[in-house]
Formats: sequence, structure tokens, C-alpha cells
Amino acid sequence: MGGDVVDSQVFVKQISDSLLAKIAEFVYQRTGIRLSPQKKALLSNRLRRRMRQTGHSSFEAYFKHVQSIGEDHPEWDAFLQEITTHETFLFRDEVHWEWFQNQFLDQLAKDARSGRRPRKLHIWSAACSTGDEPVTLACCIAAKLPNAHLWNIRILGTDIGTGALEQARKATFGIRAMGRVPEEYRRRYFTQVDEEHWQAKPLLTRWITYKQHNLLEPMREGPFDLVVLKNVLIYFDVESKKVVLEHVIQSMHPGAYLLTGAAEGIANIRGSLKRVYPWLFQKPEK
Ligand SMILES: C[S@@+](CC[C@H](N)C(=O)[O-])C[C@H]1O[C@@H](n2cnc3c(N)ncnc32)[C@H](O)[C@@H]1O
Repeated sequence: MGGDVVDSQVFVKQISDSLLAKIAEFVYQRTGIRLSPQKKALLSNRLRRRMRQTGHSSFEAYFKHVQSIGEDHPEWDAFLQEITTHETFLFRDEVHWEWFQNQFLDQLAKDARSGRRPRKLHIWSAACSTGDEPVTLACCIAAKLPNAHLWNIRILGTDIGTGALEQARKATFGIRAMGRVPEEYRRRYFTQVDEEHWQAKPLLTRWITYKQHNLLEPMREGPFDLVVLKNVLIYFDVESKKVVLEHVIQSMHPGAYLLTGAAEGIANIRGSLKRVYPWLFQKPEK
């Protein structure tokens, strides 16, 4: 008996399946993210937090509110924060940064020296969360590109979440985020703020600009020599992955590279892109 009472209370506290389906469809249409029905309990807890903050007494009322607001409303970002993961850290996936430093940047410098290309490097870090990826790119460039000051370097970091971007603009990183930064880079390119925080020096941040951007929309800037798109398409279904890839390919220079996460699942929908490694693709030269 007692168990029944507890169960029914828990049940009442969770989102109904029909509302969950409506929320999932809404999130999918706006962001391309597929919410998993298995996450019902987690989502219920997270949305309850937002309900408390915004003074709504039911999931239905809160969801109505979210539907009625625009993407520039602070609650839209707070809602997004609850349904997306911003997990990131500097130098995530060592093999990617080895390739970037020892192959991509080396080749770039060689081509510039021989006059085969201008000293220009434009990179897009798409879905950059709190900026760890753009700052990693900047670290590698500062370390590997001779005469970086003579180059036209631009790193565009974008994300759908404005809160994440606000954090990114501070360029301050905690112990966990800094865990894989090589000691020498930490000394050269960061200032220790306190026992647990480091700030990227202007030497790195001068190259980086942050902008809010939804990957389902076309990218108006570019063309880019490299697009980094990691750990985001894993939350998308095939249809939205295709839309994103189309926009990404449009934004790339002929011959440019697309660096993705290992499990992004685009190998079968990569269109004209050539696969270099399971996580690296190249746009044809012509
Ligand atoms: C797990 S983080 C990945 C951060 C970084 N790329 C990395 O690999 O460490 C995923 C990011 O994707 C962003 N995101 C989710 N859907 C998006 C969309 N439709 N457009 C742009 N960014 C999106 C989230 O806000 C989140 O910051």
C-alpha cells in the first residue's frame, strides 16, 4: 500500500508521456536535438527547477511559457541549459590536436612560405560551448605558427546557448577544463587567477570572436579553412545532421577540413566530403 502511494506521488511529479512528446517535438524543431524518452525522470527534475524559478505551477504552464517566448528571451537559454549538455574541456581528444598542430598547421606554414597561399587562417568552432575549443585552437596556433603576428587569423566560436557564450567571453577556465593543457602552454598562454582558475592571455583571445548561432540555420560568415564540429551531432537525428552538414559544407573553402567528434555519425551522409580519418573530412578542391 505504502509503496503505491509513493509511486503515485512520483508519477504525478513527472511529465506525462504526451507532454514529453510535445516538448520533444518542439525542441527538435527549434534545435535539431532529439530528446530521449528514457530521460523522462531527468528532464522532469530539470524542468521542475525552471518552474520554481519562473513561478509556474505545472509542466504544462511552464511549457506554454517557453513556447511563447523568442530565442532572445533569458528563459529560452535557461530552458536550453537544462536540455543540452555543455560538457567540454581544453585539448579534448589528443589525436585531433596532434593532427592540427603537426599536419594542418605545418602544411599551412609551408604553403604560405612558398607563396601558394596567403597568410590567412579562418576557423569556425561550431557548438563551442564555453570556449574551450576556440582557446585550444588559439594555443596550438600560437605555439606552432611562426610569425603568427603577420597572419590574418580569425577563430569564430558559435553556440546556440547565450549563457555558454557569456562564459566563453570571460576566457577563464577551472582545474578540470585545464587538466590536459600541456604544462608549457599553461605557462606561456595563461595567467593564473587564483588556485583553481586560469585566464587565457590576450595573445590568444585577440583572434577569437563569439556569436550566437543555431546550426540549423545557414552560416553567413566564412569561407573557413577549417570547421570544428565536435560532440553535438550525436544528439541530432539523420535529417537534422544533413541540414547542418549542408550549411557547414557551404561555409567551407574548397580544400578546407571538417574536424568532427569520433561518434558524430556523418560518414554515410557526408555528401561531397572526402573522408581522411574517421573524424576528419575534406572538401574537394574543385
Ligand atoms: C557537448 S557540447 C560540445 C562542446 C565542444 N564542441 C566539445 O566538443 O568539447 C555541445 C554544445 O552544442 C550546443 N548545441 C546544441 N544544439 C545546438 C544547435 N542547434 N546549434 C548550435 N549549438 C548547439 C550546446 O549548446 C552545447 O554547448
